[in-house]
Amino acid sequence: MQFRLRRSLAERGWAGFAASLLTDPRLIFRRDPDAAPLKPFAPRHPFDAQHGVETGGILFPEDLSTGKPGDLCNNGYFGIAPSVFRQICDRLAIDYRAFTFVDLGSGKGRALLLASEFPFRAIVGVELSPRLHRAAMENVAHYRPPAQRCTNILCVEGDAAEYRLPAGPLVLYMWNAFEGPVFEKVVTALEDSLQRDPREVYVVYVHPELDRRLAGSPCFRRLWFSEIEMSEEDYQAYAFPPHAEVCTVYRSVTGETPGRT
Ligand SMILES: C[S@@+](CC[C@H](N)C(=O)[O-])C[C@H]1O[C@@H](n2cnc3c(N)ncnc32)[C@H](O)[C@@H]1O
Repeated sequence: MQFRLRRSLAERGWAGFAASLLTDPRLIFRRDPDAAPLKPFAPRHPFDAQHGVETGGILFPEDLSTGKPGDLCNNGYFGIAPSVFRQICDRLAIDYRAFTFVDLGSGKGRALLLASEFPFRAIVGVELSPRLHRAAMENVAHYRPPAQRCTNILCVEGDAAEYRLPAGPLVLYMWNAFEGPVFEKVVTALEDSLQRDPREVYVVYVHPELDRRLAGSPCFRRLWFSEIEMSEEDYQAYAFPPHAEVCTVYRSVTGETPGRT
């Protein structure tokens, strides 16, 4: 996750920026002289050890360059805290069997593996970096826990801004994967898709830096905006000082509710 000092300053001013640092030092997480230190974290997440996968590590945008236009908006890689992801998915309280779960910016696939503990109709991950895409495919191939309830998992290498959304009810998940221009294209494509094919779509947006765009969209209504505490195990393997993640969830205002429980 790359949080640009300059942009934050421009948006918030010095006073606002300084205030925001008190609550979220990730704002200046970068590998540069201005970067705030990350907190110490366990190099291997117990989730990986338990399941024989490799979804850990921190990768900066400059580690992930592909030569594609999407590079400019890439916020970098870090896997979601499993306890946070599970709480979010539980709280959706939908009939998962009716929904395709789509992770835009799926990295090494940790969220895809976690989503497979829920009985989604299908799971799709879209990742810009070929290297992370390959890692996700390997992880998906090796992940077979007893709790798994969906094995229909597809990893797609490509730019989320160019990805054509599947038909049918969706849970669209993003963990602050990309910056403004890519986010704008993604949301505009989603709005267009809903115009053509009104349906039930939930947008799950973790660390919602660009929440204003969704809040202002006539296609969605916000269901909730919460801070979600992570487990101590996750915190030990987490690179950032806050003990919680902010998450917001929207639902499309168009479409029926075939999957509502
Ligand atoms: C913070 S990581 C999240 C990983 C995963 N979704 C999770 O929750 O564990 C964001 C990922 O988005 C990817 N990404 C950034 N820009 C992208 C784009 N335009 N299209 C597809 N993936 C992108 C990055 O390479 C990175 O792997």
